[in-house]
Amino acid sequence: MASEDIIERAEALRKEIRRHSYLYYVLDRPEITDFEFDKMYRELVTLEAEHPEIVTPDSPTQRVGGKASDDFRKVRFRKPMLSLTNVFNAEELREFDRRVKASLGTDEVEYITELKIDGLSMNLVYEDGRLVQGLTRGDGRVGEDVTANVKTIRTIPLYIENAPPYMEIRGEVYMPRKSFARLNEERDEAGLMPFANCRNAAAGSLRQLDPHVTAARNLDFFAYAIGETEGLDVHTQEELLRQLAAFHFRVNPNYRKWDSIEGVIEGVGEWAEKRRTLEYDTDGMVVKVNDFRQQDALGATVKDPKWATAYKYPPEEAVTQVEHIIVTMGRTGVLTPSADLAPVRLAGTTVKRATLHNLDFIREKDIREGDWVRIYKAGEIIPEVAAVLKEKRTGKEPEFQMPETCPVCGGKVERVEGEAAYRCMNPRCGGVVREKLIHFASRDAMDIEGLGPSVVDSLLACGLVKDPADFYTLDAGELQQLERMGEKRAANLVAAAADSRGRGLAKLLFALGIRFLGAKGAELLTEKYHTIEAVMAADEASLQETDGIGKVIAQSVYAYFHDERNLELVRKLQQAGVVTAEVKETAEGAAFAGERAVLTGKLASMGRREAGEIIRRLGGEVQSSVTKTTTLVIAGTDAGSKLEKARAQGVTILTEDEFLRRAGLAPAASESGEPSLF
Ligand code: IVH
Repeated sequence: MASEDIIERAEALRKEIRRHSYLYYVLDRPEITDFEFDKMYRELVTLEAEHPEIVTPDSPTQRVGGKASDDFRKVRFRKPMLSLTNVFNAEELREFDRRVKASLGTDEVEYITELKIDGLSMNLVYEDGRLVQGLTRGDGRVGEDVTANVKTIRTIPLYIENAPPYMEIRGEVYMPRKSFARLNEERDEAGLMPFANCRNAAAGSLRQLDPHVTAARNLDFFAYAIGETEGLDVHTQEELLRQLAAFHFRVNPNYRKWDSIEGVIEGVGEWAEKRRTLEYDTDGMVVKVNDFRQQDALGATVKDPKWATAYKYPPEEAVTQVEHIIVTMGRTGVLTPSADLAPVRLAGTTVKRATLHNLDFIREKDIREGDWVRIYKAGEIIPEVAAVLKEKRTGKEPEFQMPETCPVCGGKVERVEGEAAYRCMNPRCGGVVREKLIHFASRDAMDIEGLGPSVVDSLLACGLVKDPADFYTLDAGELQQLERMGEKRAANLVAAAADSRGRGLAKLLFALGIRFLGAKGAELLTEKYHTIEAVMAADEASLQETDGIGKVIAQSVYAYFHDERNLELVRKLQQAGVVTAEVKETAEGAAFAGERAVLTGKLASMGRREAGEIIRRLGGEVQSSVTKTTTLVIAGTDAGSKLEKARAQGVTILTEDEFLRRAGLAPAASESGEPSLF
C-alpha cells in the first residue's frame, strides 16, 4: 500500500501540474521553464508507476491512453443542445431585437456578442469537479461519448477546484488554422484525402478510435455556455463567461456587452474583416440576451433558443477558370497536382493557384483543364476548389491524367498500394533531392534564412550541394559563384547555416523529411528519446509506444534509419557540427545553461564563432576573455594565455571532444587513446 506521504506528494504534484498547465496552455503565461515542468511531471509519472493504486482518472498523467468508449456510445442529454437561428444582415438583427423586446414587454435589453467559432459543440459533464464525460452534439437530444478523446485536449480541465457537485459545460472544440494547414500537408504527403476545412478536421480528429491520434492533432476548446447545472450562482451571460474563466476554461476574449441592437450591428461590422487575422476559423457572431431571467422568459422552440441568434458572415468564394493542371513534386517524391487559375481576388489576396491534392480528389470533383470553378480559402489561407460549374463546360475539357513518368527526372511514377498519392520511384530523382533540400532549410525545419528554392536551384546547378550536410561546408568564396550572390549575402548565408546547427533533434528529425513524420511527431520522438542515437536504436514496437506515433510513422522512421544512405547523411551532419540531441527551448537544463564560456585555441571541427553559437543556443554566454565571472574555457590546440589564466583561476576546462560531447554533437570521443591534454 502506498503510504500517506506518497499519496500526499502525488496530490501536491497534480495540483502544481494543473496550475502550471493552465498558466501555459490557457493563459500563455508560463511561470516556470519547460524543464522544471517536465521534472514535476516525471516525478508524478514515476510515483504513479511505482504505486498504480494511487492513480486517479483526473490525474494530469491520464490525458492520453484511455480507450475510446464503446465506439462512441450514444448518450441522451439531460438538457438538449439547441442550435441557433441565423440572420444575415443588419435589418434581420433589428427584427430579432424587435421580437425580443415585444416578447419581454420592455426595451431594457442588454446583448452580448461573441465570436461564432467554427468547430463542433461539446458538452462536458463534471461531477464534483471531475470531468466524467464529453459528448458531441449528435442530433441535439442524443450525443456521442468521446470522453477519451476530449481528455487529450490540454485546455479542458480534468479537475476543477471548488466546482458545484454537477455541471455541464458547453463550448466549441476547434482546430487552429496552423494545425489544420500542417495536418493537410501531412495528409497529402501520406496519400490521404485532405480535410475541407478546420471544422471537418476537428470533427474527424474527435472521432478517432485511438486517443493517441486525437492527442497529436492539437485540438482546442472555447467554453461559452452551460447545460444542466446545479448550484452555480450566475445571472447573466457576462457573469457566466467570467465564471467559466475562473474555472480555468479558455474563454474567447472577444466578447462584448451592448445596450442596443445598433451597438451589436457595429460589433458584427467590426469583426467582418478582423476575424481573418484570428488563429482559428469563425463563421459569424452569436448575439445573446445577457440576462438569464430574460432568457428564461423568452424560452425556446424545439430547435433554437429565442434569446439568441447567429449573425453569419457570407462565406468568401470566387469564381475563376482552371487554365492548366500542373504536377509538382513534394519532399518525399509525391507528385501533387495543382490548378493554375486565372488570377482572381479572394478574401484579401489575389489567388492564382489551388492545390488539387491527388488524383482521387480531382476525380471526386471532376475537375478538368478549362473548367470554371468556385474557390474558397480553407482556414483563411489555403485556396481550395469547392466545386466545378459544370453548366459552363464547352464539352472540350479533357479529363485529367496523372503523368506516367516523373516531370523532373523522367523516372517511373507509381501509385502506392492503398494510397491516393503517386510518387516518383527514383531515389536519385533530382526533383526529390531538390525538395528534400528545400524542406530541410525551410522555416519549420532547420530554418536557414536566405536558403529558399531559388538558392537551392543555383546550388544544385553549380554542383555545390548534393545533400543537406553540404549546406554546412559551403564557404562564402564558393558561394559568390552563384548568380545574384554578393559578398554580404554569401557571408550571411554561411552564418545562417552555421546558426541552424543548434536547432536540436526535433527540428532535425522533421528536416530529414522522413515519410509521414511531421513536425509534431518529431517533437514527440524527441521528448521520448532525446538523442538521434536513441531514435536510431529504437525498434518499431518501442517507436510505436510513443504517444501520438502510430504504426505507419513508426515503420517509416524505423525503415529510414535502417537505410545505409540515411545513416551516412546523419554521420555527415554530425561531422559538420549539427546538434543531434534534444535542445530545450528554455535555457534551463540545456547543456551550457548558466555557463559563461571563453573559447581559445584552434578547434578541429569548427570555427570559434560557430562553437560560440552552439554555446549560446544551448543556454550559455560567450566571453572574449577570461575574467572573474568565467565559468568555463574550451581549449583547442595552441591555446595560449587565456588557458593559463583559466588554469590559474581554477576554471573548468574542456577539450574539444569534451565540448562536443557536452553539446550533444557527434559522439566524437577520441579513440586514439591519446591522454587528455589536461
Ligand atoms: S451558443 C443555445 N455561442 O454555433 C445556444 N454557440 O449554429 C447554443 N457556436 O451549435 C450555442 N460559437 O456549436 C454559442 N459563442 C458561441 C458559439 C456557438 C460557435 C456554435 C455551436 C452551435 C452552433 C449554432
